[in-house]
Amino acid sequence: MKTVYVLNGPNLNLLGSREPTIYGSATLADVQVLCEQACARHGLALAFHQSNHEGQLVDWIHEAGRLHAQGQLAGLILNAAAYTHTSVALLDAVKGTGVPLVELHISNVHARESFRHHSYLSAAARAVMCGFGVAGYSLAIDAVAQW
Ligand code: DQA
Repeated sequence: MKTVYVLNGPNLNLLGSREPTIYGSATLADVQVLCEQACARHGLALAFHQSNHEGQLVDWIHEAGRLHAQGQLAGLILNAAAYTHTSVALLDAVKGTGVPLVELHISNVHARESFRHHSYLSAAARAVMCGFGVAGYSLAIDAVAQW
């Protein structure tokens, strides 16, 4: 059974109470349930994590990379949150491991402030999705299941 990694970056632990007009009212625990249900539909295992710390996210990308090297990774879905717009370290981790990446954002970052329009990750992503709300997570798992 292959595994889908779903990694969430800074402040996503606040989902549900954080700027609900932008991010909605679902909590990160609700998102995890959505991901578990999507993985169960496709016979995939799920590794689901959140951290506010860049290095921890790098470590989890490396972990996903080891599974990828063994042919056991279905894909990595990464909502790097604000690190999307700042982190060369996350880009290097994705490139260095060769993991098949979906860059995901709950909001439509292109309809927001201009500093959210640039992503360091997009260049290394197989797919980018944004603006579907938390439903994007299960849509992304549906897509990864076809890879
Ligand atoms: C986000 C968009 C980012 O610009 C922001 O910093 C986040 C969340 C999203 O899911 O829409 O924290 O990645």
